[in-house]
Amino acid sequence: MGFYSRILMPRLLDLLMSGESFSDYRQTLLADVKGEVLEIGFGTGLNLRHYPEAVQRLTVIDPNPGMNAIAQKRIHASHLTIDTQILGSEALPMADNTFDSVVSTWTLCSIPKIEQALEEIHRVLKPDGRFFFMEHGRSPDPSVQIWQDRLTPIQKVIADGCHLNRPMQALVERYFKVLTLDCFYADGFPRIAGYMYQGAATK
Ligand SMILES: C[S@@+](CC[C@H](N)C(=O)[O-])C[C@H]1O[C@@H](n2cnc3c(N)ncnc32)[C@H](O)[C@@H]1O
Repeated sequence: MGFYSRILMPRLLDLLMSGESFSDYRQTLLADVKGEVLEIGFGTGLNLRHYPEAVQRLTVIDPNPGMNAIAQKRIHASHLTIDTQILGSEALPMADNTFDSVVSTWTLCSIPKIEQALEEIHRVLKPDGRFFFMEHGRSPDPSVQIWQDRLTPIQKVIADGCHLNRPMQALVERYFKVLTLDCFYADGFPRIAGYMYQGAATK
């Protein structure tokens, strides 16, 4: 992993994703998270302060050690018991049916082998567990889709593997039963990166 991914990207993402509108989305998504929790693509730990009391234990994974380095200050300030692992989501070392909740915020866009990762999330989620997600992805508008397809190759380079055009609803529905789903353009975001999929799913 090069200097850009390990040193610059974590600082840039921490700056861009710590804004108030992101915080509001995090707070809403995480309100019902409980029990034994896995967060994939933990990044710099911006979800930490939004986890409710009902969370018993948190396992967080991210393949980028530069993200983890910045997350440390938030991990130390948290009252939660947190197990941190430098790891991608495509091959999880956890046993089947381990977690009550799995959380992903703006991460499914960046996972290289997305189907493999969703299979793994499905495997480690308990039968009555919940997969909570907040993701940007493919817009329903053809005029936006064209630009999402054109710009994704550039976005992957400048934003460390992020795809603008992933069809998040279809991807999640391939592996899970969707319980709630809210799709919308987020205020203040360019439409190519601002079509959000916020929801919860089960096995
Ligand atoms: C846009 S950032 C979002 C960070 C964090 N979830 C947040 O909400 O602030 C995307 C994250 O996905 C992580 N990521 C990239 N490839 C991954 C993979 N294979 N498995 C899990 N996370 C991955 C990146 O390192 C980065 O931290």
